[in-house]
Amino acid sequence: MGNRPHTTVILAMSADGKIADVTRSPARFGSKADKIHLECQIATSDAVLFGAGTLRAYGTTLTVSNPKLLQQRTQGGKSFQPVHIVISHSGNLDPESPFFAQPVSRWLLTTAAGADFWAKKSHGKISDSVRFEEILVFETSMGIIDISTALQHLSTLGITQLAVLGGGELVASMVELDLIDEFWLTICPLILGGATAPTPVEGKGFLAPLTPRLQLVEVHTVEQEVFLHYRLDR
Ligand SMILES: NC(=O)c1ccc[n+]([C@@H]2O[C@H](COP(=O)([O-])OP(=O)(O)OC[C@H]3O[C@@H](n4cnc5c(N)ncnc54)[C@H](OP(=O)(O)O)[C@@H]3O)[C@@H](O)[C@H]2O)c1
Repeated sequence: MGNRPHTTVILAMSADGKIADVTRSPARFGSKADKIHLECQIATSDAVLFGAGTLRAYGTTLTVSNPKLLQQRTQGGKSFQPVHIVISHSGNLDPESPFFAQPVSRWLLTTAAGADFWAKKSHGKISDSVRFEEILVFETSMGIIDISTALQHLSTLGITQLAVLGGGELVASMVELDLIDEFWLTICPLILGGATAPTPVEGKGFLAPLTPRLQLVEVHTVEQEVFLHYRLDR
């Protein structure tokens, strides 16, 4: 794993493996138990990472609100909330999104062009108290975000547990670079269908002989939902 945070993907999907419907509307099909599960996973993290598409879909991020979980965080020496990191190549985010009013530390992981775009777009539209606290620019010579180096940087800042909250594009880019350690997938009792509806891992896909393999760590069922916990088999 090297010098980077331990990474866990947490996603809810339909029984046919879709994380949203074809219109990419916010996925709100999980039960209360699934939301509690997600909140618990977020509460054990130092930071959460999600794609700009996920932020555009929801407009907000899930914060820890359960008093017991908040107490456990402070007793464990963690900040009240994990840092919420958005990854965006373009930097084209909505400064009026309710995300910017949420009581969390916000960081942006982007390219140099993305940082410039965001600076211009947000200028005068966002107050100092709610803007991104950190803008992390990590770019390869190909002009794409260098997630591996960015993760190493996060680890130097004391981020050892990173929750990856989707969507499929972000997860694919990290699986391709072997940067994911665990998956929590909740199978919810509905069918979303649709050839273009997003799935947990998008990208170009893997050829069967070369595909990353998983080990099932645990599985439990709560009412109609199945919670699957996998570890990457290395
Ligand atoms: N069921 C669930 O648990 C769950 C969880 C999360 C999301 N979702 C659903 O997933 C959908 C959103 O997913 P999505 O496919 O749009 O994926 P996404 O990964 O959230 O967003 C894609 C965008 O994020 C940025 N991005 C992601 N990976 C990047 C990388 N490696 N380097 C640079 N930028 C990167 C890019 O932003 P720019 O375009 O700004 O460059 C890209 O266009 C929504 O419908 C949402 O409801 C479901």
